[in-house]
Amino acid sequence: MSTRNGKNPIEHPTRGKTAQNRLRRVDLFVTKYFPNLIKEAQDTYFVDLGFGADPTTTLESAHHLRKLNPQLPILGVELDPERVATAKPFEDDLTHFRQGGFNIPLPKGNKAILIRAFNVLRQYEENQVADSYALMSKSLVPGGILIEGTSDPFGRIWVANLLQQSTLPSLTYLGITFSTNFRWGFSPSLFPPVLPKNLIHKMVPGETIHQFFNDWEDAANKTISHKAYGIRQWFVETGIALAEMGYQIDTRKKMLKSGFLTWKYPSLTWE
Ligand SMILES: C[S@@+](CC[C@H](N)C(=O)[O-])C[C@H]1O[C@@H](n2cnc3c(N)ncnc32)[C@H](O)[C@@H]1O
Repeated sequence: MSTRNGKNPIEHPTRGKTAQNRLRRVDLFVTKYFPNLIKEAQDTYFVDLGFGADPTTTLESAHHLRKLNPQLPILGVELDPERVATAKPFEDDLTHFRQGGFNIPLPKGNKAILIRAFNVLRQYEENQVADSYALMSKSLVPGGILIEGTSDPFGRIWVANLLQQSTLPSLTYLGITFSTNFRWGFSPSLFPPVLPKNLIHKMVPGETIHQFFNDWEDAANKTISHKAYGIRQWFVETGIALAEMGYQIDTRKKMLKSGFLTWKYPSLTWE
């Protein structure tokens, strides 16, 4: 791939306006799901790839993640140089903004412990997902995490792929997380519109993700009596019901109660 200006042919800037707190729940999720990874990070970066028109999401993450690790270095990356210029005044010793793409422009010799790419790949083609993951994985330390997903404009609903860098180096698919803050009530049908790029076109009969949503609807119908105890409790029960159907769901109450349903399905493909 050509790398003129650090870009390769599959990359292009897009509309980038971000509502405040749009990715607040992604921060909450990673601090709950990977607390030790963040706490133990030493000289390894959190990368916010495609931070958008201004550095809001990156600065909000700096605030939230540094509650676990005050020394966590953070890099916001944007393809659009004007957006990088807008972010530069917000730099400090530990927070940096650079122009670049999936080939992450980390300072020489440095790697990332966590890369977040949110609302970036939806604007690419499905067949570009694997290449972009392969490029991003080059910047991760072994054990490092890539969280790649899509949200609604306010971050109330999102769905994300979770991948972990193995020692090989290659990425292992850990699973997919469905997140809601319950502001729109609850129904499994809220999530398909924000499926990540590798899955959005697979909501058709015969595909694993399509079957999963059918089963989640069944689980929601079966457990509807729990709605009387609140929507969160109903959501929790749907996760437990899915697990009883044989899905590998993270049924920890602290996750489900917070509106995070993670399906650990290592063979769901991003190819
Ligand atoms: C829709 S905005 C998302 C902003 C923010 N992440 C959010 O979730 O609200 C997508 C941003 O990604 C940037 N972008 C697109 N491809 C990129 C790439 N390969 N590397 C870095 N940034 C990219 C675009 O320029 C745009 O600013």
